[in-house]
Amino acid sequence: MANVVVAGAQWGDEGKGKIVDLLTKYADCVVRFQGGNNAGHTLVIDGKQYIFHLIPSGILYDNKTCMIGNGVVLDPAVLLQEMDELKEQGLTVTPKRLMISMNAHLLMPYHALIDQAGEAVLSSDKKIGTTGRGIGPCYEDKVARTGIRAGDLLDETLLREKLKRSVKEKNFLLEKLYGQKCVDYDEMLRHVMTCGEKLMPYLGDVSIALDTARKAGKNILFEGAQGTHLDVDHGTYPFVTSSNTVASNACTGSGFGVTHIDAVVGITKAYTTRVGAGPFPTELQDSVGEELQNNGHEFGATTGRPRRCGWLDGVVISDSVRLNGLTGLAITKLDVLSGMKELKVGTSYDLAGKKLASMPTNIRQLAAVQPVYESLEGWKEDITSATSLDQLPQAARNYLKRMEEVAGIPADIVSVGPDRSQTLLLHNPFEIKAK
Ligand code: GDP
Ligand code: IMO
Ligand code: MG
Repeated sequence: MANVVVAGAQWGDEGKGKIVDLLTKYADCVVRFQGGNNAGHTLVIDGKQYIFHLIPSGILYDNKTCMIGNGVVLDPAVLLQEMDELKEQGLTVTPKRLMISMNAHLLMPYHALIDQAGEAVLSSDKKIGTTGRGIGPCYEDKVARTGIRAGDLLDETLLREKLKRSVKEKNFLLEKLYGQKCVDYDEMLRHVMTCGEKLMPYLGDVSIALDTARKAGKNILFEGAQGTHLDVDHGTYPFVTSSNTVASNACTGSGFGVTHIDAVVGITKAYTTRVGAGPFPTELQDSVGEELQNNGHEFGATTGRPRRCGWLDGVVISDSVRLNGLTGLAITKLDVLSGMKELKVGTSYDLAGKKLASMPTNIRQLAAVQPVYESLEGWKEDITSATSLDQLPQAARNYLKRMEEVAGIPADIVSVGPDRSQTLLLHNPFEIKAK
């Protein structure tokens, strides 16, 4: 029995969906614990692509339980749409397969309107480049203690009372601050009640269900969204998302005890990408960056925006090892580097002549750092059908080894293509290493 967290080690889109799908084979429960439909997790199975925004990436296995924890901000309409899309593909999501925490906060249409209006009024250097899904405003309501929770769907009197207050407050912001049209209370109520009726059978106590599963010796897999450097506390604030993305939030965001986590896998691309604004020290705004973008098909799974691309940043990775307590890496998209003559890895930063081994927390300093690079030899071969490390060219193995050295932890998984089958499982994180 083991409980494993998968967390993004960079700025999101590291390939968490693919790795979670792969590891689900060894798990009994798969749990989302933070974020919402700002996430876009891609799975490719035998050439068929699925993108999940809210449903945990374990859903394709029919004998596993997927759970949406209290830490998630849940847009009920998006969840129902995802369920409908799966149904069209022949997979019916039932309450046996999916449980939603009664404490998860519901994301309402006015959250997205405020998110978009808030971004629109910012000057170009201040825009965060959010996904516009309403994630920040929904978490604001949660912390302000005015949010509507999934469990409120079971108490219409409370639901109406909370919604009345929220609509009044949001309309004040929409109209007076942003000069936008107000939302209609009756329409919002209809929306939430209609979705709510369909979602009610899925509501449950995720914390108790996880504890029961743990005591029965089941394996639990926690699926992080976004990435460590988008964490609201530890990321490149204010260019971050509005939740804690680090592994420790797997516990808070699902009601699971911290002492029960056995392994934390950090997902990292073999290079770096970022979508949205904010500092990105190893960004390449040249033909090499374009090559990475084209070869890696680096366009957002949620918004379709092009992802900014750059060399691997060892500082980003080693900070993630510390912030998450990573026990192993899952290195994705190694295949994208095939054909590049020279590869660079940032191993530290230079800030006005001073060497830094970790990211400065001051955003202006972070924007000013220069990465210190090490150069590694590239390889020409197509590696997408490799099934073991010894089938990789020596230069690719050297690159992986250097990544492990920079991180100070081993690679558990190496991914050489988007498909579930294009993966080298070097160490199964559900098999606990001796400490
Ligand atoms: P997530 O948000 O972390 O789940 O990642 P996304 O799904 O947003 O983005 C990762 C993209 O890379 C998806 O299109 C995946 O299908 C793709 N992908 C994952 N691993 C690999 C890999 O090893 N090689 C290639 N070429 N693509 C990969
Ligand atoms: P997955 O789970 C990459 C980024 C947005 C923006 C910032 C804040 O697929 O890795 P938000 O809408 O959350 O308020 O936007 O965070 N962002 C992501 N970038 N992958 C994600 O999720 C992201 N979710 C949010 O681009 O910069
Ligand atoms: Mg993504």
